[in-house]
Amino acid sequence: MTLVQQIFHSSLGRKYVAALTGAGLFFFLIGHLAGNLQIFGPPDLINGYAHFLKSKPLMVWGARLGLLACVGLHLYAVISLAMESKAARPVAYAGGAAYGSAWRSRYMMVSGLVILAFVVYHLAHFTALLPGINGFGDFSKLKTELKDAGEVPDVYAMMVLGFRVWWVTLFYLIAQALLFVHLGHGLSAMFQSLGLRNHVWWPRIQIFAKVFSTALLIGYISIPIAITLGLGRDYSDRAKAGLNMPLGQQSAPQQGPADALVLK
Ligand code: HEM
Repeated sequence: MTLVQQIFHSSLGRKYVAALTGAGLFFFLIGHLAGNLQIFGPPDLINGYAHFLKSKPLMVWGARLGLLACVGLHLYAVISLAMESKAARPVAYAGGAAYGSAWRSRYMMVSGLVILAFVVYHLAHFTALLPGINGFGDFSKLKTELKDAGEVPDVYAMMVLGFRVWWVTLFYLIAQALLFVHLGHGLSAMFQSLGLRNHVWWPRIQIFAKVFSTALLIGYISIPIAITLGLGRDYSDRAKAGLNMPLGQQSAPQQGPADALVLK
C-alpha cells in the first residue's frame, strides 16, 4: 500500500486531510477578505487589484486548482468519516440529536453543505458573471478606465450593484452566519485532529477559534451591510447609467441628481 493509500485508508489519516485542507481554505478566506475590504477605499483601488489578479493567469489558476483540491479532499474526508462513525453506531444514543457530538457533527454537515451551495452561487454571481441569477442584469458590461491599464471590468460597481438587490444580500448574510458557525467549531476541531488537545493548549485554541471566526464574520458582513446603508451609491448609479452610453464615456460623471436612477 502506498503512503497516499495508507493516509486515506485510516481514519486518523483522513482527520489530518480534513484539518490541513480546512486550514488551506481558512487562509484563503483571510486573503479573500483582505482583497474585498478594498471596497471601502476609492473605486480604483479594488478595480486595480482585480485587474492585477487577472493579469497573472498562472497564479490565479494555480490558486483555483489548489482551492478546488482542498474543497474536494475536505468533503471526501469529512463525509467518509461521518459515514464510518454512523455505521459503527447503528443504534442512536438515547436523547437522539440533542446528544453533544451527534448534534455538532449534524450542524457541521448542514452548515458545510449550505456554504458549498453559497460558493457555487457566488462563483456564478461574481466570477462567471451569469446575468440570469443576480437580479440586476449583465455585470460583464460594467467597465471603467484605469490610468495605467485602460478599460477594465468595474468590479467596484459590480459589487455595489450586486448587493443593492435585497435577496442577494440576505442570502450572503445567511451564508456568512453559517460560515461563522462552521468555523467556530471547525477551527478548534482542526487543532484537535492535529493532536493539540491538552489542558494547556485547548483553552487557547478555543479563544483563537472564537476570535478568528468572529473577525471573519464581521469583515465579510460589513461589505453588504455598508452597501445597503449607501456605500458607493452615487458611483454605481453613474456606472449603471453608463451602460446605455457609448464606450469611452462610461466613467464620465453624469449631470443631474444621482438618485434619479432607481434600481429595479
Ligand atoms: C461579502 C462577502 C464576499 C464578497 C463581497 C466576495 C467578493 C468576491 C468577488 C468580487 C469575486 C470575484 C473576483 C474576480 O473575479 O475579480 C469573488 C470570487 C470568489 N469568492 Fe468571494 N466574496 C465574498 C465571500 C466569499 C466567501 C465567504 C467565500 C468562501 C466560502 C468566497 C469564495 C470565493 C471564491 C472561491 C472566488 C473565486 C476566486 C477565483 O477563482 O476567481 N467568497 N468573491
